Amino acid sequence: MEPTNSPGKVDVSKGFMSWIDERFPATETFEYHMSKYYAPKNFNFWYYFGVLAIVMLVNQLVTGIWLTMSYTPSGEEAFASVEYIMRDVEYGWLIRYLHSTGASFFFIVVYLHMYRALLYGSYRGPRELLWLIGMAIFIAMMAEGFFGYLLPWGNMSYWGAQVIVSLAGAIPVVGPDLMEWVRGDFLMSGVTLNRFFALHVVALPLVLVILVFVHLVALHHVGSNNPDGIEIKKNKGPDGIPLDGIPFHPYYTVHDIHAMVLFFIVFLAAVFFAPEMGGYFIEKPNFIPADPLATPDLIVPVWYYTPFYSMLRASTFPLFGMTAKFWGLVVMAGAIIIPAALPWLDRSPVKSIRYKGMWSKSMLGIFVVSFFILGYLGTKGPTEARTAVAQICTVLYFAYFVLMPWYTRIEKTKPEPERVTF
Ligand code: HEM
Repeated sequence: MEPTNSPGKVDVSKGFMSWIDERFPATETFEYHMSKYYAPKNFNFWYYFGVLAIVMLVNQLVTGIWLTMSYTPSGEEAFASVEYIMRDVEYGWLIRYLHSTGASFFFIVVYLHMYRALLYGSYRGPRELLWLIGMAIFIAMMAEGFFGYLLPWGNMSYWGAQVIVSLAGAIPVVGPDLMEWVRGDFLMSGVTLNRFFALHVVALPLVLVILVFVHLVALHHVGSNNPDGIEIKKNKGPDGIPLDGIPFHPYYTVHDIHAMVLFFIVFLAAVFFAPEMGGYFIEKPNFIPADPLATPDLIVPVWYYTPFYSMLRASTFPLFGMTAKFWGLVVMAGAIIIPAALPWLDRSPVKSIRYKGMWSKSMLGIFVVSFFILGYLGTKGPTEARTAVAQICTVLYFAYFVLMPWYTRIEKTKPEPERVTF
C-alpha cells in the first residue's frame, strides 16, 4: 500500500485502518491468522483445549501479577504474606484461588490437549516441529509449577522441593555440587526461595509466552489436523481454499466462546466450592509454615506430577553400579521426554485412531489406564504391593512408545476417507 505523503497525517478519506495498515500489517495479520485461516470443518470436543490452554495461560499471568503485588519473597515473610493475601487483601482469596486452582486446571486442559494429539496423530508430519514445541511448553510448564509451589513456603512446599532438588544429588560426580548450586545454599533456604521466585515470575512466564507464540505460528504455517487425520490442503477448490475448511473467524471464534463459557462454569465451581480439591490442588501440610525440622508424614507432589513421581519411586534396585535413586531419575526424565519421539515412532499408514487397528487402540487404552493408576499411586505412601503395581504400569507406559514402530506396522488399518467426515 502507498504511504500517505505527509508522515503522521491521517488521510480521513482512507480511514483509520488504512492509516494503521500502511505502517503495521494489522489487517493482513488478522486475515492470515483468523478470517482467512481455514480450519477443518469437522473439529470436535477435543479441539477446544488449545484455546482453553490460552485462556488458562492468560489467567495464570494476570492473577500471578496481582499476587506478586502483595507477596513477599523471603523465608521469614512468604508464608505470612500469603495468609495476608487470603485474609486482608481485597479479593485476595479469589486471586490466590484463581491462580492455585488455575494451575491444576491448566494441567487438566493441557493433558487433554496432548491426549487429542495421540488420538488423531497430530504429532505426525508435517506437524513434528509443532509437537516438539508443544513438548518444550510441557516441560516449561512443569518447571513453572514446581518453582511456584515453593513460594507459599508451606511445609509441603519446603519438603517437596527438597526431595526434587536432592534428585540432582543422584547424578554421578557432579550431583552434590549441582544440588548446592540449584539451592544456592547448603540446605533449602530463603536464598532458594528468592531464585525460585525470580524464575517463577519472570523467566519461565517469558519462556512460556514465547513458546506459545511460536507454537501458534507453526500451527498456522502447516494448518490444523482434524479427527480424520487427513490433510484438508490436499482438496482445494478453484479459489485455492480447502473444500473442507471454514474460516477460523467467525466460525471457530464463536464456537470457542461457547467452550469458554462452559469451561468457566466448571472452573469457577472448583474455585468457589472446592479450591483445594480435598488436598489434591493444595496439599494439607501447606497450611503449616515450612519447618526444616519436621517432615510431613508423606511427601508427595501435586497431582499433575504424580504419574512421573510414581515412576521415580518404582525404581527400587541398583544396577550397573548406579543407585536406585539414579535410575529413578533416569526413568522419570525418560517418561517425561519420550513423547517427543512420537513423530518418528508412529509408522502407521493412517494418522487418526479412527482408522488405526486394534493394536493401536488397545495400546492407547492401556497407556491411559497406566497413567491414571500411576497418578493415583503417586498420591499414596509406597507399600510393597503398590510399588509392584507401579513397576508394571511403568513398563506399560513405556511399552506404548517403545513398541509403537512395531505394532503400528503390523496391524490392519481401515482406509482413510477422501474428504473429512462428520
Ligand atoms: C500453554 C500451553 C499450550 C497452548 C496455549 C497451546 C495452544 C494450542 C492451540 C490454540 C492450538 C490450536 C487449537 C487446537 O488444536 O486445539 C494448538 C494445537 C496443537 N498443540 Fe498446543 N498448546 C499448548 C501446549 C501444547 C503441548 C504441551 C503439546 C504437546 C506436547 C501441544 C501440541 C499441539 C498439537 C500437536 C497441535 C495441533 C493439533 C491438531 O491440529 O490436531 N500443545 N495448541
